[in-house]
Formats: sequence, structure tokens, C-alpha cells
Amino acid sequence: MNVAILGGTGAFGRALAARLRDLGFDIAVGSRDHQRGWERGAELGVRGGSNEEIVEGADLVVLAVKSNAAIDTARELKRAIGTTPVLCVASDVLFTDSGILPARDERSLAEELAEAIEAPVASGLQSVSAIDLASKELLDQDALICGDDPRAKEPALELAGKLIGGRALDAGPLANSRALEAMTAVILTVNKRYRAHAGLRLTGIPDK
Ligand SMILES: NC(=O)c1ccc[n+]([C@@H]2O[C@H](COP(=O)([O-])OP(=O)(O)OC[C@H]3O[C@@H](n4cnc5c(N)ncnc54)[C@H](OP(=O)(O)O)[C@@H]3O)[C@@H](O)[C@H]2O)c1
Repeated sequence: MNVAILGGTGAFGRALAARLRDLGFDIAVGSRDHQRGWERGAELGVRGGSNEEIVEGADLVVLAVKSNAAIDTARELKRAIGTTPVLCVASDVLFTDSGILPARDERSLAEELAEAIEAPVASGLQSVSAIDLASKELLDQDALICGDDPRAKEPALELAGKLIGGRALDAGPLANSRALEAMTAVILTVNKRYRAHAGLRLTGIPDK
């Protein structure tokens, strides 16, 4: 699978690119700046360039730019992305005096994204941290993926299943991204409270 990682210069994108590279995926990392994307790609031993350049020919686009830039970035790249499936990994969280909170009351970022572009959208991997992805260990975690369109959900489940030691689980429609994105606030809170790198693991699910 040919995977284009938008914002592949960031902590999450670089860790994802390195892990997928080691698994034999064909990877490209992108940046707002062609040169920066090219340099990060060269460091990682994958292709690199501008966000717009790297979506060309991709089977799956991972939208891994900073969360508050995710929708605008996708809108700007709407034509370049076309109908290539997109996996959204973003969560909106608020850091407040009373704690780390989900930033959205209603629609998720992924649902807003799906309305902004033509491409089918899946959402997931919010609970898989960049630090864990960058480790050499097989992650003792499940990965939850939701989406309304199998053209995005299926490649996203396939990719997620290779990243973790647990299962890549179909978490239903894209609206369930509201829960996945909000869970990031819970995980970050737990990480802070217990100095942890928490991931998710669901119990009681029979083998396929
Ligand atoms: N970090 C984690 O552990 C983790 C875990 C799960 C999911 N995620 C999600 O993964 C995504 C990336 O997280 P991250 O921690 O890697 O973020 P990050 O390092 O803050 O940002 C990633 C990349 O976004 C690009 N960017 C920054 N501001 C931008 C803007 N205004 N417009 C367009 N692009 C911009 C930058 O690339 P250029 O400057 O090269 O363009 C940057 O390298 C987020 O949506 C986050 O919610 C993160």
C-alpha cells in the first residue's frame, strides 16, 4: 500500500512513517514546505516533498498535521486528494485549569472533514501515541477505526492492524469519532496523572 502522510514532519507522522517503512509499506511524508518534506523523507529513508506532491498516486492519505490545521489543510488539498481515501488521526482537546478536556461538544473533527472534501474518510489511531509508535516494541494495544465508507475504512483497518500487537477493530460509523477524539482527553489525563503512556485494549472480543 502506498501511504502519503500529510504533516509527516511532525512527531506522529515521523513515527508512523518509520514503523510503516519497516513493515514494507511505500511511504511518503509531506510538509507545507517542499524542502522540509524532502529532508525528513531522506532522513527516514522514504519519499518526501510538499503535502500536495506526495498525495499523487497514494492509496491512502493519513492526515497527520497539527489538529487545529487539519480541516484547512484538507480543504486546501481537496483537488489534489480527489477521491483518495483519507485516515484522520486528529483530536481537538483543550488544556484548561480544570484539566484536559474534549474540545468539541457536537460533531467530530473527522465528520467535519468528511463534509469538506470529496474523498471517503475514516478516523482512528487517536489512542496510539507518537512515543509508542516510535518504540521498537510491538504495541500492546488495540486500534479503533470508524468510518461510513468502506473505501476508507478497509485500508485504514489494514494499516492499523499492522501497527499494533492487539486488534484493529471496526468501531462503526464516522460519528463514533466523537468518542475516539474525546478519549484523547481521557488518555492524556491518565498519562499526566500516572506518568504513563496509556493505550487502549478492549476485552471480551472473540477471535475472528
Ligand atoms: N503526537 C501524538 O502522540 C499523537 C497520537 C495520535 C494522534 N495524533 C494526531 O496526529 C496529528 C499530528 O500530531 P503531532 O503531535 O505530530 O503534531 P505536530 O508535530 O504539532 O504537527 C505535525 C505537523 O503539522 C504541520 N503543521 C503545523 N502547523 C500547521 C498549519 N498551520 N497548517 C498545516 N500544517 C501544519 C507541521 O508540518 P510542516 O511545518 O512541515 O508543514 C508539523 O510537523 C494531530 O492531529 C494529532 O492529534 C498525535
